[in-house]
Amino acid sequence: MTQLTPVLSAHWDEADSFTIAGYRRHGGYTAIEKALAMEPDAVIQLVKDSGLRGRGGAGFPTGMKWGFIPQGDGKEHYLVVNADESEPGTCKDVPLMMANPHVLVEGVIIASYAIRANYAFIYVRGEVTHVVRRLQAAISEAYAAGHLGKNIHGKGYDLELVLHVGAGAYICGEETALLDSLEGFRGQPRLRPPFPAIAGLYARPTVVNNVESIASVPSIVNNGAEWFQSMGTEKSKGYTLYSLSGHVANPGQFEAPLGITLRELLEYAGGIRAGHQLKFWTPGGSSTPIFTQANLDTPLDYEGVAAAGSMLGTKALQVFDETTCVVRAVLRWTEFYKHESCGKCTPCREGTWWLVQILRDLEAGKGTAADLDKLLDIVDNIAGRSFCALADGAASPIISSLKHFREEYMQHLNQGGCPFDPAASTLFATAGSR
Ligand SMILES: Cc1cc2nc3c(=O)[nH]c(=O)nc-3n(C[C@H](O)[C@H](O)[C@H](O)COP(=O)(O)O)c2cc1C
Ligand code: SF4
Repeated sequence: MTQLTPVLSAHWDEADSFTIAGYRRHGGYTAIEKALAMEPDAVIQLVKDSGLRGRGGAGFPTGMKWGFIPQGDGKEHYLVVNADESEPGTCKDVPLMMANPHVLVEGVIIASYAIRANYAFIYVRGEVTHVVRRLQAAISEAYAAGHLGKNIHGKGYDLELVLHVGAGAYICGEETALLDSLEGFRGQPRLRPPFPAIAGLYARPTVVNNVESIASVPSIVNNGAEWFQSMGTEKSKGYTLYSLSGHVANPGQFEAPLGITLRELLEYAGGIRAGHQLKFWTPGGSSTPIFTQANLDTPLDYEGVAAAGSMLGTKALQVFDETTCVVRAVLRWTEFYKHESCGKCTPCREGTWWLVQILRDLEAGKGTAADLDKLLDIVDNIAGRSFCALADGAASPIISSLKHFREEYMQHLNQGGCPFDPAASTLFATAGSR
């Protein structure tokens, strides 16, 4: 069985894991010494060699992204850390920032140095006040220790780190909407090109990376690219955080090499809750097509999940047992996408509204069989035809649930109501439908 590989989460159970003293006790802030002694391009090359891919969802190679920043252009460069984490099921960055905010701060210093940025920003979602306080405390500790500010470690490198608190909108996790929000505008996605690497924050070359991506960097600097490469699969290297939630005996964060399977992770999580069986699950949050029992042995790396028809996304494994009504679950997610659609483009703004109306009827057993095709028709006009990937995410649960559970939709219609006992399903309270 694949062994867990706790790196980021190795010391989360220590009482002072979030303090600078707790972080230093396990080698914290030694990676910046090494990185600042290297040329910035050598740091980029190291991250390229490690094979680290972005942990925010798309899996884009991190070192390659850093390499896109034009050098010697005489412009200010920026690093922006995406800590908006709002996808249903996704819950790794918040615990990481609570338990070990300093590994993120150290990663920010190294990444900023590599891309030659003197200003970095952490954009954190507004609702998580406890995380905001903890991050702010860690940043203050890092300034006081001379890890941030002017002439860091006497190496002639300056870095200011700003913590920016968003107002709690899922769309502000989309990197260009995040940049607009950070600039003080309403958070809506930007037209690309130009990409952020050319014209990002304040129209300057900008790298946007996920919290976990940046937090992985100090361990790579300290242990080397080969060490990181020794974990994971051929094209998906390293360790990562898998978040198990829902109907599992012991939900939580499990740090493991990429390519582990749900069957293995369930063993670590104590299995499905007692007396129940797995019905369906998401490999990477609600925006990724759902899987079933048939995918228990699918390798959870970018290639393995894609080959099986879904996406690794944020590795948010939401697990549902046989008590869950799949129509109700999909309705609940679709209500989320409708609520969070920023309204910039018509297919998503109008389409998600109609999807909710139809799903509400179907869940109540009030529709007709033709409504199932209508759902797919609307989805076909949204996915790939909207301005950003929020709309593709909204389509995923509908298409995949109709593929795997069409009969359950029909059962609602034939029975004139939901065949599931709402009291048994503890997971979903739909907004306004009951
Ligand atoms: C609607 C939407 C929401 C997103 N939310 C997040 C988020 O909360 N955190 C995140 O890191 N990436 C999020 N992303 C992906 C970002 O646009 C971007 O790809 C990511 O921050 C890049 O970081 P990485 O290369 O380190 O993965 C979201 C994308 C979309 C379309
Ligand atoms: S797809 Fe949806 S969230 Fe994205 S820009 Fe269009 S309306 Fe906004």
